[in-house]
Amino acid sequence: MRILKEHIPEIKKIWKAKFGSTYDEGLRFLLDSDKVGSKNLATLQIEIESGKPLQQIIGKWSFYNGEYFLGSNVLIPRPETEVIIEKIRVSKLNCNRILDLGTGSGCIAIELSKIFSQAEVLGVDKSASALVTAKRNNYQTENKVNFFQSDWFANVNGKFDLIVSNPPYICETNKIEPDLLFEPKEALFSKDNGLKDILKIINESREHLNPKGSIFLEHSPEQVSSIKDALENAQFKDIQYGLDLKGMARYTHAKR
Ligand SMILES: C[S@@+](CC[C@H](N)C(=O)[O-])C[C@H]1O[C@@H](n2cnc3c(N)ncnc32)[C@H](O)[C@@H]1O
Repeated sequence: MRILKEHIPEIKKIWKAKFGSTYDEGLRFLLDSDKVGSKNLATLQIEIESGKPLQQIIGKWSFYNGEYFLGSNVLIPRPETEVIIEKIRVSKLNCNRILDLGTGSGCIAIELSKIFSQAEVLGVDKSASALVTAKRNNYQTENKVNFFQSDWFANVNGKFDLIVSNPPYICETNKIEPDLLFEPKEALFSKDNGLKDILKIINESREHLNPKGSIFLEHSPEQVSSIKDALENAQFKDIQYGLDLKGMARYTHAKR
């Protein structure tokens, strides 16, 4: 049975049974989305009751100046990451070539391709299925991103003016919070207290950056000093961290 407007009271009932009145904003998003009219009511009920994130139920979500198709194969783009895009925008970097490592939905690469509309932008991911979603999201930029599969730098050639990454950085022994249960594990967890991937990226980035090139890395607030140390050891300069919307140290940027 397809969802029609007359099913809205039923959807409200299912939603309230799951969330009470604690998440009315989510219900409004759901009812405003074009899922009402295109989805099977029974499927929707199962999804709501299972706790599937609203963004994945709707199948798309806004990020910075774009709207991104999502699936269970990519991380839901986060407001923390939007802060990094804005910082890059206002930094007035001179960028002809940009690399996004671990591109997921493609949200970082695509938003940067809009800001730096003359730059060549590459987005890589180890996950083939994430890349299918990233390529689907390429519709919204005139300056098409070149998405391809790579285990970090393995298939990446040449040098860049800007390297950005929001890699997996949660310690793999951490208990999974319920809201992360539906996200791909390879997007979230990294060995060595969550630092293994980020340190690999730091150690291999310098040789892929042009002389005045910049690196921007998202991380958890408690990783900030390890990342500063690693960047110093790798001879990076002007190392600074930036805050997310909750005032936590969420990203670090540095110059080659
Ligand atoms: C935290 S998600 C970030 C997704 C997207 N950039 C964003 O900010 O929403 C990390 C991404 O890194 C990818 N990834 C994990 N290990 C990787 C590797 N060894 N090489 C390339 N990408 C990898 C995951 O598949 C995932 O898409």
